[in-house]
Order: sequence, then structure tokens, then C-alpha cells
Amino acid sequence: LASNHSFGLGRGKVFPAEHAQSLLSPLRRLLDAPRDVVHRMRLAAGDRVLEVGSGPGYFSPELARAVPGGSLVLFDLQAPMLSLARQRLEHAPNVEYAQGDAARLPFADRSFDAALLVYVLGEVPDRDACARELSRILRPGGSATFVETWRDSDFVRFARLDKLLGRHGFTLAERRGWLGYTARFQLSAAP
Ligand SMILES: C[S@@+](CC[C@H](N)C(=O)[O-])C[C@H]1O[C@@H](n2cnc3c(N)ncnc32)[C@H](O)[C@@H]1O
Repeated sequence: LASNHSFGLGRGKVFPAEHAQSLLSPLRRLLDAPRDVVHRMRLAAGDRVLEVGSGPGYFSPELARAVPGGSLVLFDLQAPMLSLARQRLEHAPNVEYAQGDAARLPFADRSFDAALLVYVLGEVPDRDACARELSRILRPGGSATFVETWRDSDFVRFARLDKLLGRHGFTLAERRGWLGYTARFQLSAAP
């Protein structure tokens, strides 16, 4: 793993795989219903989707079901997170897994229609690089959806996110909530 990452539950630290089970708690449905988040992504059945920082795949079964004619790639810095997600998604035929850093995505230009980042961006030291990479791997007109909450030690305020993404050719398409929000941004269709 890259040396600029530190692991732990505090601000700016990468959420450690040892705590992965807490992300799969059934109580989480009350706050972060996967169906609602996936619905807000406005996916088409044939879309190719990238979930950055998927962790153990709490949202992933719902995402995989939303693109039956497309595919879902789960991407995370920590291999143990991806192993847990793989167990959870055992029977999903349209899911692939890749390990690496969100600041350097190992994917071709314009290779995805949509991306999802839930409670991830605040853990990435170089957020500018992450936004630049998202603008590179998405097709023009593609979308990136972010879920953030003030309850997370790594909370990224909406105004900050909006400014960051604006610098990389994204504009806000839809936002729900404020201190706990889901925001979908669209990449400019112009080259
Ligand atoms: C708080 S967890 C959230 C996991 C999942 N999105 C969820 O909501 O259940 C953050 C995840 O982002 C991953 N992550 C943190 N920094 C990353 C980076 N630079 N590149 C890729 N993944 C990263 C962590 O390994 C962890 O699995």
C-alpha cells in the first residue's frame, strides 16, 4: 500500500478492514438504504459502473442488480475489503474486483458510465487527483455520485465537494440532504 495512507477511525485516516463488519450492520438500512442511494444514481440497465472505496460491499448487491445488462467494478485500497465484498456478492455474474488507490485509477479513459463513492473521499489524501481521475475514466455525460454525512469523521462538506468537482468539468445534477447528503454530478458532455 502507498505510504501516504494511515489507517484508523480518526479524521483523514483510511477506515480499517478489521472494522468492516460495522459497515454491514443491518441497522444501517435505517440511515443509508442501498435502494435509495442506487435509485438516485439514475442508472440504465446496461451501464458500466465503478464503486470506488466499496469496502465490504454494503451497497454492491443493489448496484449489481441495477445494471443486469452492464457491469460493476468494485475498487478499494484494501484487499481484505474486496475479499469480504466477493463473499457477499458470490452469485453476481456481472461484478469484477480491482485493488488500488482512488488517486490513480487503473482504468482506461472514458470506460465507465457512472461512479459511486460512499464515505470515501475524505479518506483520500489527494482529492484533486481523485476528482481528475474520475473525470478521465467516465465518459462525457457520465455521472459521479457521492454520499457524505457529518457523522463520519471524514465528512466532506457539500460546498467543498461542489468546488472540487467544478474544477474537473462536473456540474451538480441532483442533491438530497445537507449534513447527510447524496449528490450526483454529471461530467460535461463537451470534450
Ligand atoms: C468508511 S469505508 C466505506 C465503505 C463503503 N463505501 C460503505 O459505505 O460501506 C471507506 C472505504 O474506502 C476505502 N478507501 C479509502 N481510501 C481509499 C483510496 N485512496 N483508494 C481506494 N479506496 C480507499 C477504504 O479502504 C474503505 O474500504
